[in-house]
Formats: sequence, structure tokens, C-alpha cells
Amino acid sequence: MFFSLLFFLLVTVAASIIGFSFKNGISPTPTSKKVKCALMSSLPDDLSGVILELGSGWGSLAFALAKRYPNCQVIAYETSPVPYLFCLGCQLLRRFPNLLFLRKDFFFSSFDKASLVVCYLYPKAMQKLLLKFKKELKSTALVVTHTFSLMGKKPLLTLHAKDLYCTPIYHYQDFS
Ligand SMILES: C[S@@+](CC[C@H](N)C(=O)[O-])C[C@H]1O[C@@H](n2cnc3c(N)ncnc32)[C@H](O)[C@@H]1O
Repeated sequence: MFFSLLFFLLVTVAASIIGFSFKNGISPTPTSKKVKCALMSSLPDDLSGVILELGSGWGSLAFALAKRYPNCQVIAYETSPVPYLFCLGCQLLRRFPNLLFLRKDFFFSSFDKASLVVCYLYPKAMQKLLLKFKKELKSTALVVTHTFSLMGKKPLLTLHAKDLYCTPIYHYQDFS
């Protein structure tokens, strides 16, 4: 009985992750440690306001951002239930008062209050986001993404992580 229940639970979890990966166009692949270090150290020290993490997955960037910027409100969006619940569980243990996980599609949220937007997504989402950034972001807001760039927009800065793929990290500003 116990093993049947465990098997059912595992199959449900796997089906949910796979189903939402198809729906979202990307799986909840976490940013690797080396890319995370390079990305975090490329960020400015003096930051205030709201930070958005678009697609928080298992929370690897969201928790790092909340720790690095205790005076900023970090809002992390995720639609896939399993990684979202995992993040809620971690948040119960770690309790960052400035970190909020929302189970919501970020395309249906406003970006107008953001000072920093961080994401690791895929080309089609980046294309769609570029239009949203142009419409909603303040000119001073910084967008930081890795692996996939915003096609058609010149980065302010490009650097490379010291990993096997020399993963590119892009900074963008001023979408007006
Ligand atoms: C490649 S993972 C990145 C996870 C995390 N940001 C990291 O770097 O470790 C991308 C995540 O974005 C989520 N996602 C994709 N489109 C989304 C959307 N429109 N709204 C909310 N989450 C989305 C996916 O479910 C996935 O978990």
C-alpha cells in the first residue's frame, strides 16, 4: 500500500513537471552554481525597489537575490506547481521577509515598479518579453538574463561565466 501510494505520488509529480514544461516552453532547469556566481557578482551593489525573478524554478536565483538585497522586495513568479511548492517549503525554512513567491504567469503582471528583472528563459519568451519591457519598464530598470539574449536589443554589458559553455550573461537597460 505504502509503495503504491509513493509510486502514484512520484508519477503525479513527474507528470506535473513534464506537463508544465511543455506548457511553459521550458523545464525548471536551475541556473548552475558558476553561472549564478558570475551573474550575482555582475549586479550593482546599490539597488533599491522591486526585483522581479521571471520563472523562479527551484528558487536558486530568487533566494540569492533576496539574500543579496535585503532592502529590496523580490517577487518570484512561477506557474509550475511542483517547483513553486518546493520554493514555498524552502521559504518556510529560510524565511526571507523580502521574498515573495507567486504562482502566476509573469506575462499577466505589471513590471512598472521593477528596478531589476532577472530571468533564465528561452528565445520565444525573450521575444515576447522585449515588447513588455518596452511598454512597462522604467528607463533606469536593469534586465539581466543568461544563456538567451533579447534579440534585436543591444546589451549594455555582456560577460561570460567560467563554466564549460562560457555561458553568456547579458545586462540591458533603457527600453524606451
Ligand atoms: C529555466 S527555468 C529557470 C529557473 C530559475 N530562474 C533559475 O535560474 O534557476 C525557467 C522557469 O520559468 C518558468 N516559466 C516559464 N514561463 C513562465 C511564465 N510565463 N510565468 C511564470 N513562470 C514561467 C518555468 O516553469 C521554469 O520553471
